[in-house]
Amino acid sequence: MFNQLKHLFSGQKFEDTPSSLTDFSLMGVDMHSHLIPGIDDGVKSMQDSIAILRKFQDLGFRKIITSPHVVSDGYNNSTETILKGRDKVREAIKENNLQIEFDAVAEYYLDYSINEKIEKKDLLTFGKNYVLVELSYLTKTNNIHDLMYKLQIAGYRIILAHPERYPYYYEKDFAQYHTLKDRNVYFQINLMSLVGKYGKGAKSTAEKMIDENMVNFVGTDLHNENGLEVIKSCLKEKYLEKILTCDRLLNKTLL
Ligand SMILES: [Fe+2]
Repeated sequence: MFNQLKHLFSGQKFEDTPSSLTDFSLMGVDMHSHLIPGIDDGVKSMQDSIAILRKFQDLGFRKIITSPHVVSDGYNNSTETILKGRDKVREAIKENNLQIEFDAVAEYYLDYSINEKIEKKDLLTFGKNYVLVELSYLTKTNNIHDLMYKLQIAGYRIILAHPERYPYYYEKDFAQYHTLKDRNVYFQINLMSLVGKYGKGAKSTAEKMIDENMVNFVGTDLHNENGLEVIKSCLKEKYLEKILTCDRLLNKTLL
């Protein structure tokens, strides 16, 4: 706070002050990425997966919890396909002598099929029974609160993936974010939003969420090697330093 006020009086914007970060060790754990080869729109080969994991290790990450898409009308991955893929990546990690810990869950697209998964208790979770869900980028999910309520009643803690990327909320209905927070939904913003990778709206929304203490997790949402340079470029962002040094950030509780 003092630093922010100091910069206010000096005329320099908070976001323009230099970040002192040199790596991601303060984050420690990434819980959103697409690093199991060939099962979604993420990495295509084990070679790519290992190259990324090696880079992540060099950048200070100690654990990666990857999260392939589960979409009924798209990437219809099952718990079995994901865990099988996870085990293959773990074998490759060993063969390549990497030290990074690796696990897999899913990024569930919130649609009608979630009901069946809740009934069967067939959702991959991490940490304190967290489940990662995403919404459409284009249209509001009508029964979002019903679906979230069902998940919570079943004992799951919901993490909403990249809330800053839903324009129908940040452009017209920011109050919806407060409603979700009031209903105990955890928010995970993408690192790349902080450098404007998804546009100005997503960047300013991510910053606003950090300022308003709405962010619980950060994730890379990395899909391929091209994204690595962008991830690295996030280190210069003052807002990244702000969120990584915030007591509320829960990434490290996943170690
Ligand atoms: Fe993702």
